[in-house]
Amino acid sequence: MKNNLSERLLFFYDHSKRVLPWRDNKNPYYIWISEIMLQQTRVETAIPYFERFINELPTVEALSKVEDDRLMKLWEGLGYYSRARNLKKAAIKVVEEFNGVIPNNKKELESLSGIGPYTSGAILSIAFEQKIAAVDGNVLRVFSRLYKIEEDIKDIKTKQRIKELVENSLPSKRNGDYNQAIMELGATICRPNGRPICEECPLEDICKAKKHHMQMVLPFQSKKAKRRMETKTVYILQYGDKYAIRKRPSQGLLASMYEFPNVEGHVGKNEIPFPSNKVKKLPNAKHIFSHIEWHMIGYLVELKIPLDDYIWKSKEEIKKEYSIPSAFKKYIKIIMED
Ligand code: ADE
Repeated sequence: MKNNLSERLLFFYDHSKRVLPWRDNKNPYYIWISEIMLQQTRVETAIPYFERFINELPTVEALSKVEDDRLMKLWEGLGYYSRARNLKKAAIKVVEEFNGVIPNNKKELESLSGIGPYTSGAILSIAFEQKIAAVDGNVLRVFSRLYKIEEDIKDIKTKQRIKELVENSLPSKRNGDYNQAIMELGATICRPNGRPICEECPLEDICKAKKHHMQMVLPFQSKKAKRRMETKTVYILQYGDKYAIRKRPSQGLLASMYEFPNVEGHVGKNEIPFPSNKVKKLPNAKHIFSHIEWHMIGYLVELKIPLDDYIWKSKEEIKKEYSIPSAFKKYIKIIMED
């Protein structure tokens, strides 16, 4: 199936690929930023973030010098903020140790924060036309179906097996397009959720999962560990037209981002520890992180005096300058619409 597979996929890519801003040219910086964004976000969501990011930070050097708060603002809503911090850390290293030039080899690339085998494979194949695989979740899904691989997709051995299958199928040229063709097929046809659109797939007649009616059950994935539940009470403290925010600790979940004051547990309306004449219960909210779930209740509390413990900002200032993670989205919306 070897040569024929890459020909079919490249033909599919040439005719069906989406027009994406990082595909305009092969700037390794663009490829890097887009691949990091795409690790956590769908293509449609990533596009406006990518355009804004590149507009403001058009080079590795600009990224290496960006203020942390500004970087967080540019990443606001994408989640996994440590990825943005790693981007800056890596950019500083590229400037200091590689003369501002993104390396074109695996060893140096993977010495940069946040760049592992997938991202280095994507950069080397797409930007530098090197013959190397880039195996992400899309590729694992497509190949586990194509070859009817029934082992746990999360198992390192299964991943290694699939990586070898991809490596053996790499064409003699256009490896970046080939890797992207598999991802594209995985995103648009051999989809993760819902029924794959086998009737439009260029590999339908050679797909072993399809042949054995197993396309809906593959890839097999063992159950994820249960997420830890946390209850929280979020306080929207208001004084005049200002609201209280504070900076989170520099380590751990949502490190160094801004947030509304909040405490562990669900606090009753009569137990609110602030001097106020007016307390309004706000809707409950839930946010799911990879390992934790926050179950939040909220109060809008109008204060008689501003407390020094917080940073007091108007809604316009918060919107423009402070990155508040999506976990607080429901409460941000309430302020913005107030
Ligand atoms: N998902 C992650 N990277 C991608 C790419 N370069 N093309 C399509 N989908 C992707």
